[in-house]
Amino acid sequence: MKVLLIGGGGREHALAWKLAQSPRLTHLWCAPGNAGMAAERLGGSGKAVECVPLSAEDLPGLLDFARHQGADLTVVGPDNPLGMGIVDLFQKAGLRIWGPNRQAAQFEASKAFSQAFMDRHGIPTARSGVFTAMGEASRFASSLGGRCAVKADGLALGKGVLICRDMAQADDAIDQMLNQGAFGEAGRQIVIQELLEGIEVSLHALCDGRTARLFPTSQDHKRALDDDRGPNTGGMGTYSPAPFLNQAELIAVSRRIIDPWLAGCAADGIDFRGMLYPGIMLTREGPKVLEFNARFGDPETQVYLPRLKSDLLDLLEASAEGRLTDTPLEWSSRACVCVVLASGGYPGKYARGAAIHGLDEADGLPDVKVFHAGTAIAGGKVVTSGGRVLGVTAWADDLQGARDRAYAAVERIRFEGMQYRRDIAARGLRV
Ligand code: AMP
Ligand code: GLY
Repeated sequence: MKVLLIGGGGREHALAWKLAQSPRLTHLWCAPGNAGMAAERLGGSGKAVECVPLSAEDLPGLLDFARHQGADLTVVGPDNPLGMGIVDLFQKAGLRIWGPNRQAAQFEASKAFSQAFMDRHGIPTARSGVFTAMGEASRFASSLGGRCAVKADGLALGKGVLICRDMAQADDAIDQMLNQGAFGEAGRQIVIQELLEGIEVSLHALCDGRTARLFPTSQDHKRALDDDRGPNTGGMGTYSPAPFLNQAELIAVSRRIIDPWLAGCAADGIDFRGMLYPGIMLTREGPKVLEFNARFGDPETQVYLPRLKSDLLDLLEASAEGRLTDTPLEWSSRACVCVVLASGGYPGKYARGAAIHGLDEADGLPDVKVFHAGTAIAGGKVVTSGGRVLGVTAWADDLQGARDRAYAAVERIRFEGMQYRRDIAARGLRV
């Protein structure tokens, strides 16, 4: 089976690594891929994975490529092509593709859509309002005492959320989005949510249009600096499982969130085939949804896939074809930790092109895998080419062991300006 994987970040490297282990895979192209993906080989044949210089947003180029190369399945990693309707485009052309169609991808592409859906179908979430005018938005924020999350409605690379703790911050955030165009078109409409307090966890549920298969829990670290200080980022590290919910509690959460979500999709005629990734807050009043994403999390994927025992290709195919119920989904009980190494300055401005040292040494350690995110090859060497550069991932029987192993691997790697958090999984160890 020949597969085209769209995307070039850490999530896609993890997807490529896991897909490459499927005995049914005969060819894997990654568009555009990265230096780490280009170095992967298929487990069955030893054949190299091929990166093709097509952007994840070049929909006509990707369609042309898949058609001419005879890709049997296209797998979509990032949110942007989904929001742009790549699934509808491929399906119209008679090509098989994994991911939600444009209507279903609205769960992530529009926070206003998601909020209205949750309110309509009784899914527990923050008290919220949707606004395009400064005055009304400010009045709503004021009713929350200024303690709120101000969110750009559209896609903003995980950065379109401003957390406010008083009215001055709230008015400033609203002004930045509605008047200053800080997030462009994505911020012309905003959602304001009450600030929820609690422990945040990531859920993932693979869906096939009728059923949802829940993954184990994981936890991301969104802020740039230790102890959850600094600005929000795409994610600075993850671990799985997150020990804040036992299996019974996880099933209870799923009943309160995933079941009404599935019923809501059926009632509204939404055919969701892909990954539903709700960000949830475990508040004193129970779990509440902060947002829905419609794809694998990054860097959640990096800690899920080393724990996944089943064949990912089988699962994605079954998800696309509406037959997930009978497809095996088995997990190893081991714990997994991913520490993101980022460029100095990220999530703000950062340099590119720094040589990365110690990669082979780190990757060669037992039970360690270094997933590439923003890397490229220049002059035959691996260099930095993005904000999040690497996801150093390790597994062990328990969380402490996985964490120790991940940080031991981090110590082997260096590049100019390298920054990372020292407290990934620390909270999970305090439980
Ligand atoms: P989102 O992209 O909506 O998940 O928001 C990014 C991050 O902002 C989340 O991961 C949370 O850490 C934080 N956040 C979002 N909404 C809220 C909220 N209503 N209350 C508290 N924190 C929030
Ligand atoms: N883990 C953050 C994200 O994928 O949006």
